Amino acid sequence: MTDPASKAFYLTTPIYYVNDAPHIGHAYTTTAGDVLTRWHRQRGEQVWFLTGVDEHGTKVQRAAETGEVTPQQWVDRLVEESWQPVLATVDAANDDFIRTTEPRHGERVQRFWEVVRENGYVYSSLYEGPYCVGCEEFKLPGDLLDGEGEYGGQKVCPVHGRPVEQLAEENWFFRLSAFQDRLIAHYEAHPEAVQPRSAYNEVMSFIRQGLTDISMSRSSVSWGIPLPWDNDQVIYVWFDALLNYATAVGYGADPDSVDGRRFAECWPPDVNLVGKDILRFHAVYWPAMLMAADLELPRKVFAHGWLLVGGEKMSKSKLTGIAPEQIIDHFGSDAFRYYFLRAIQFGQDGSFSWEDMSARYTAELANGLGNLAARATAMVGKYCDGSLPAAHDFTAAEHEIAAALAETAEVADRAFGAIDFSVGIVAVKEFVDRVNGYVTEQEPWALAKDEANRARLDVVLYTICESLRAIAVLYNPLMPKAMSSLWQQLGAGGELGPIADQRIADVARWGQLPPGTHVVKGESLFPRLDDAS
Ligand code: ME8
Ligand code: MG
Repeated sequence: MTDPASKAFYLTTPIYYVNDAPHIGHAYTTTAGDVLTRWHRQRGEQVWFLTGVDEHGTKVQRAAETGEVTPQQWVDRLVEESWQPVLATVDAANDDFIRTTEPRHGERVQRFWEVVRENGYVYSSLYEGPYCVGCEEFKLPGDLLDGEGEYGGQKVCPVHGRPVEQLAEENWFFRLSAFQDRLIAHYEAHPEAVQPRSAYNEVMSFIRQGLTDISMSRSSVSWGIPLPWDNDQVIYVWFDALLNYATAVGYGADPDSVDGRRFAECWPPDVNLVGKDILRFHAVYWPAMLMAADLELPRKVFAHGWLLVGGEKMSKSKLTGIAPEQIIDHFGSDAFRYYFLRAIQFGQDGSFSWEDMSARYTAELANGLGNLAARATAMVGKYCDGSLPAAHDFTAAEHEIAAALAETAEVADRAFGAIDFSVGIVAVKEFVDRVNGYVTEQEPWALAKDEANRARLDVVLYTICESLRAIAVLYNPLMPKAMSSLWQQLGAGGELGPIADQRIADVARWGQLPPGTHVVKGESLFPRLDDAS
């Protein structure tokens, strides 16, 4: 068992299919995971953030056929040209990137299924039924819709809107039914293990309807990991892919090796972050697999909502994806990260609109925070030769700012801890508004007209910069580029060290920015953009 003192906060994203290039739906999950792990790092926790790609299965195999290359060539090219680069595009600081074609993954997946088979949960049988290649999923009759128009008379997948295929294969089965009662008992004891609540309810009702055994191998697919005891079959892509969360951190490695120690430090995952499209895999099949191998279960699966296009899930298969660069080239990665986590309640669906994003960018980032930082640094430059003044005699107005900061830090930490991004972000935004209000009320430019007001001017300018110090720390997980620029403009690094080393628990302690730091008005944090897209 893991020693709780040395347990890392371990967060995963789904590993995405490389049938095509990423769109903003994938970037959304990765960004959310990145913000959350950066927050936990700033709490001072040990963190491990994993993302990666799912390279096997029919969907990828068929995409390669269309491109007239081998599956390996197909995935190598897409991973190198699209999936790796998008991490830098969104500014993700992941600790590892797993590809399911890597030997470390394949070997450990085979070992895992050997264990499950030895434990008696695998047997051979005939699978006959519908399969959706888009979902890579054996469907139940109740999952499907009646097709319309060109698909009239056929059964279609509700997610992909395309007809399912009928399979009849001699496969190996995983005894999922054996885990029904244990899963119910587990989730009754741990209602926090599936979030949001709507996802929990959906999972419970699915399990209570009764679990049937499910194929864990495919005999008609060749692109995958061979079954160790039956080389004519490959492991069903989901029962290969889900295991990335274990193989990437060293499942099955010698406990004294680097990988083995990583496993001890990381297991179990604190959060498996996913979209609601793959909730059932993560909240039903995945924990059952782990039970079958006597492994500890993830502490939480969080299923967020979908980015919609015309009311439907944005999707690679339907070619409705917007590439992350399309937005980020214009607004920058910080604004991208801000917008999607601020504007959409995490867990609910939302749509992207260029107009809404422009409006929030201008109001909240350029005119809100950007303007506050520009005014503060310009005034310290103009009235104090760029040297942060010392402040004496704080009045009620400053005590109120300090108290508001303490409250903000508390609300934000609680919200991020609960994976409620928008509430956390709005708390910081309201503090920004409050400090902007303080500037308007105190009118430092008027104080500066009379040398008799010098001491008061110093207090006001110090208060604004000290507030910005805290804002930079609180927003750093969300907007690391702009906040490290702000940190530099405040001259905070010299005395306080790198921004990423600042602790959330300490952020509200007033008076950390030392007088005399060199404040410079640098590049605008959020430059005004012309409307042309
Ligand atoms: O399902 N809105 O991969 P995938 C929000 N390989 N998020 C979206 C989205 C949208 N419109 N579209 C995709 C797979 N996503 C499997 C996962 S994990 C062991 C294997 C995000 O390429 C969201 O996180 O279809 C969703 O769950 C995931 O991408 C699906 O990516
Ligand atoms: Mg998908």
